[in-house]
Amino acid sequence: MIDKINDLIGRVREFHPTAAKEIEEFRIRMLGKKGELNAIFEEFKRVAPEFKRELGQRINELKNLTNERINELRTQFEEKENAASDSTLDMTRPGTADELGSRHPISIVRNEIVSIFSRMGYTVADGPEIEDDWHVFSALNFPPEHPARDMQDTFFIEKNPDILLRTHTSSIQVRTMERQKPPIRVICPGRVFRNEAISARAHCIFHQVEGLYIDENVSFADLKQSILYFAKEMFGESSTIRLRPSYFPFTEPSAEVDVSCNLCGGKGCNVCKHTGWLEIMGCGMVDPAVLEASGIDSRKYSGFAFGMGIERIAMLKFGVRDLRLYFENDVRFLHQFDSAIG
Ligand code: PHE
Repeated sequence: MIDKINDLIGRVREFHPTAAKEIEEFRIRMLGKKGELNAIFEEFKRVAPEFKRELGQRINELKNLTNERINELRTQFEEKENAASDSTLDMTRPGTADELGSRHPISIVRNEIVSIFSRMGYTVADGPEIEDDWHVFSALNFPPEHPARDMQDTFFIEKNPDILLRTHTSSIQVRTMERQKPPIRVICPGRVFRNEAISARAHCIFHQVEGLYIDENVSFADLKQSILYFAKEMFGESSTIRLRPSYFPFTEPSAEVDVSCNLCGGKGCNVCKHTGWLEIMGCGMVDPAVLEASGIDSRKYSGFAFGMGIERIAMLKFGVRDLRLYFENDVRFLHQFDSAIG
């Protein structure tokens, strides 16, 4: 029996597997239920007591050696496998960065405009881009054949009855007045379309935010104060505004709003064409005829409306000189706005 044990010890020491699976086969052969060690333990039961001590020690030695050898071989093989799979990994290569997208400057500015007016209690209203004549023109006091329709060159989809691409988001205001009783306080951001030649200063597609406030006793002073608040929030606390008389069919009186040039501080520069002022929006008191067209009693209610181009505000805010950049989606342009909030 002692020879058998010594022989097994020798085999354990000489065991040099070439693959990991040989270790497992060896373990089963040695330590498994029907393995060599169990066979020896069986035999040990029948050994005369005077030999038990020495033989028992020898068997334990064999058992421990086998366990140690198997564990040692296992770790060796694991390390080898890891090394093999790592051999293609070059830790010195630069990593591939996960490119994060950024918000489009038009979205940034639209969100900011919406946020400023929400703080004054306005809610956002939406409407279709393909409109009928009523919501874009007739309800807004543009009589048929009136020359004011030429102020906004229109893309027509169908004639008689006219279906067209909205030229301003005032159409959303009409839809809101038709649906809702005063008090009304909405802003209408959206895409608008005008049949204009594309240049650095004009595009046939652009974005507007228009606003409408209708309640009892709304005055021109309320309009002026709301726009002053907007200008200070948007362009800085030191900004001032001035109103110039203007004309829109749907407002009376009407005005155009200038904000003090935030680039030169009003001293005069290229951007403000040395006037110190930048035009930012149109506005006015809603014409009573517009209120009546949407079923609102013009003797009880009054209101103001205003409208601005988002591209223009974004140009002034970010110093962008060419409107076409907003539509080209060149990432070198867009990435400059990565850190802008909104
Ligand atoms: N709808 C006008 C435009 O697109 C802007 C405007 C809105 C002017 C409301 C006055 C009042 O030019």
